[in-house]
Amino acid sequence: MYRLIEQDGRAKSAEFKTVHGTIQTPVFMNVGTLAAIKGAVSTIDLNNIGTQVQLSNTYHLHLRPGDQIVKKMGGLHKFMVWDKPILTDSGGFQVFSLAKLRKIQEEGVYFSSHIDGRKIFMGPEESMQIQSNLASTIAMAFDECPPHPAERSYMIDSVERTTRWLIRCIKEMDRLNSLEDTINKKQMLFGINQGGTYADIRIEHAKRISELNLAGYAIGGLAVGESHEEMYYILEETVPYLPLNKPVYLMGVGTPANILEAVDRGVDFFDCVYPSRNGRHGHAYTGFGKLNLMNAKYQLDDRPIEEGCACPACQHYSRAYIRHLLKAKEMLGMRLLVLHNLYFYNHMMEEIREAIRNKRYKEYKKQKLENFMGGED
Ligand code: GUN
Ligand code: ZN
Repeated sequence: MYRLIEQDGRAKSAEFKTVHGTIQTPVFMNVGTLAAIKGAVSTIDLNNIGTQVQLSNTYHLHLRPGDQIVKKMGGLHKFMVWDKPILTDSGGFQVFSLAKLRKIQEEGVYFSSHIDGRKIFMGPEESMQIQSNLASTIAMAFDECPPHPAERSYMIDSVERTTRWLIRCIKEMDRLNSLEDTINKKQMLFGINQGGTYADIRIEHAKRISELNLAGYAIGGLAVGESHEEMYYILEETVPYLPLNKPVYLMGVGTPANILEAVDRGVDFFDCVYPSRNGRHGHAYTGFGKLNLMNAKYQLDDRPIEEGCACPACQHYSRAYIRHLLKAKEMLGMRLLVLHNLYFYNHMMEEIREAIRNKRYKEYKKQKLENFMGGED
């Protein structure tokens, strides 16, 4: 399934085979929480901007439209018309960040829907059942993402419970994958490492879950308020205890600089709302820093967002036109910026893979970081 192509220091580039096609890593997954990329970006667009994997959310799709409906429509791939891989997050994180009145117990989490206040229970089995109904390529284990900072004693208890939940997830997924009416009987499960900024807890947990022979391993509970340096330190300490022959996924990260640093510490999967969220707010990523297209100085600027960019926006439209669209609150303005930003991330990952495969990753990273610092804006 996972074939390591090249290692350059700790940076690795691989091919990950799934039932929905092969993923080249390192990869940035484009976030479509509700089975849609925010900013009116369709799956047709995604095929044009080099997207390899989409990410959707168990929690959101369970509430709306309901995973039973998605199952009746033939699963997420058919529903959203996307035949490449889809990863679904388990709901663990979203329950903790969005839902109201949560109560965590051994069996799972009781919470109220953020939409209508309806009382819901989700545990490892429910999360696996929902993800099986969605029929994603990769399902994530149901975990607790502990807050930052958290007491050491809380962290130990939380991580132990996350391990017990993981074992229940494995059992439930095995059962679901063997059922006659399961859409994707080859659904894969990724385990999630937790432990906050306690390196020793992270390491013990990484060793424990590595024994379970999962399809991949994620590092959760980062980018929750700790500094970038702490995050890099935790990656340095933890990644060596995860299997080298499996993908490593850093959840919810991050800026282009975060990704460059995490790749250097052995990470190969990423996801983040930044490119789409920033695009919707008028911010464009470029090799020379972020531009705020709302700025008056772009009023008569006939250049594309970034010179040489091959995205659909830069192929045709000027900064001045996009600025006008944003100011006039025309949806097209947001859409063009989101397309550019996603292309920027996808394209950077392509460069990263090439640099690793040519054993010049350190040099590439240094140059890229220096250019970002240069900043036009
Ligand atoms: N997304 C970002 N961080 C996390 C995490 O710790 N757990 C899960 N399930 N999803 C995440
Ligand atoms: Zn562009």
